[in-house]
Formats: sequence, C-alpha cells, structure tokens
Amino acid sequence: MRTADQLKIKLFMDGAEIESIRAAIASMPHIKGFTTNPTLMRKAGVKDYAAFAKEAISVVKGLSISFEVFSDEFFEMEREARIIHSWGPNASVKIPITNTRAESSIPLIRHLSADGIPLNITAIMTNDQVRAVGQALHPDIPSIVSVFAGRIADAGLDPVPLMRQAAEILRDRPKAELLWASPREVLNIVQAEETGCKIITATKDILAKLPLLGRDLTEYSLDTVKMFYNDAAAAGYKI
Ligand code: G3P
Repeated sequence: MRTADQLKIKLFMDGAEIESIRAAIASMPHIKGFTTNPTLMRKAGVKDYAAFAKEAISVVKGLSISFEVFSDEFFEMEREARIIHSWGPNASVKIPITNTRAESSIPLIRHLSADGIPLNITAIMTNDQVRAVGQALHPDIPSIVSVFAGRIADAGLDPVPLMRQAAEILRDRPKAELLWASPREVLNIVQAEETGCKIITATKDILAKLPLLGRDLTEYSLDTVKMFYNDAAAAGYKI
C-alpha cells in the first residue's frame, strides 16, 4: 500500500476558502494545484468572483487553479473565459460539458483550445463526453478533463472501469490530463492512480485524511479501540 509520499498522481485541492488555500500552500507540499466551482464559491461566502479569483491566484504562487464560467450562453461563456484567462497563465478556465439546456459546449471548447487557452472541462460523467472532449481539445494545449467519478458512484455505478476506459480514450492526448473529480474517500485516490488518472481533486476534509494512506491496519484497529475507551472514560460512563 502506498503512502502519500509515494503517490504519482497529482493531488489538487477542491474548494473556495481562501484561508484553506493559503494553509495548503504553507503546509501541504503534496498539493500541486487547486480547483473551484460556483457552488463551492457560494458555499464559502464568496461575493465578488473576480476579487476572489485574483486573490487565490496570487496565493497559489504559480500552481494550477481552475475557475468556472457561469453564463448559460456560449458567447457569454467565451467572454468570461477570456477574462479568466487574462488573470494569469496558471488560471485554467472551467467549461461545463453542456449548458443548462443540454446544448453541447464542444464547439466552444474547440474554439478556445485552438486559441491556446488552458481549459478544464467539467461535469463530465460519460465516456462519450470524454471522447468528444478529447477530439475537441487542441493536442498541444495543456487541458484538464474532469470526470465526476464520485457522482457516478453516488448514482450506484462503479466509476473504476469507466475511469480506466476514459484514460484509454485520452491516451493519445498527453496534454489532456484526466482528473478524478468529486472523490468521496481516500480509497478514491488509490483508485484514481491505478486507473491512469493524472490528477485527483479532493476537498480539505478528504485531504486531512491523507496521513491514513498506507496505515498499518492492526495499529489502526488498536487506535480505534483506544478511541472508544478514552471517550467512554472522558464521558464518565457507568453501567
Ligand atoms: O471537483 C468537482 C467537485 O467540486 C464536485 O464535487 O461533491 O459536488 O460532487 P461534488
């Protein structure tokens, strides 16, 4: 079993709390990049999109960080994408695979990628989508293909075979890095690496469990027993 130091997959942090991003930069050398989305930003209480993004870009010191467009119209998404791109060479522009009317973003993806803009295609859940994205991305432009493996698992499907196939689909596109998005547990980091994903993005809660990776289970079992014992004693339980 690997420990966190032995991981080959790149670990990104998913979130929009500036203090967590700052703390990760200061004390988590395993973190190689960051992802955000409008839902996480809203949850973190971000009011001013551009101000937050610019501050985050300055905090991450050149590491990759993704910001998502939020318009539902492709011409407006393009405008937002070009502004996000202007904020820094390490800012990847997240484009959802469709708009809310299920209209495909593929023509916009092809256009922006051909213009040299690093994209992160998001909310992908099928390998037909992965195939279409792989064909639309410019082969020389670094990009990220975010498959929401955790949501696939939430739907009761094993994401492992799907992710393995996605990695195979993108094999001839080395600049398009497959990202395991929305992990639910530390096991997913191991699965992501084994299926050929290049990146996994995880919330700070999952990243906080990283030291458990590769833990001796007999020792872990004993620690768990001690936890029960200490809590019962601290609570002063008597029967
Ligand atoms: O990176 C994708 C992630 O932000 C979505 O996660 O937990 O909403 O499925 P979740």
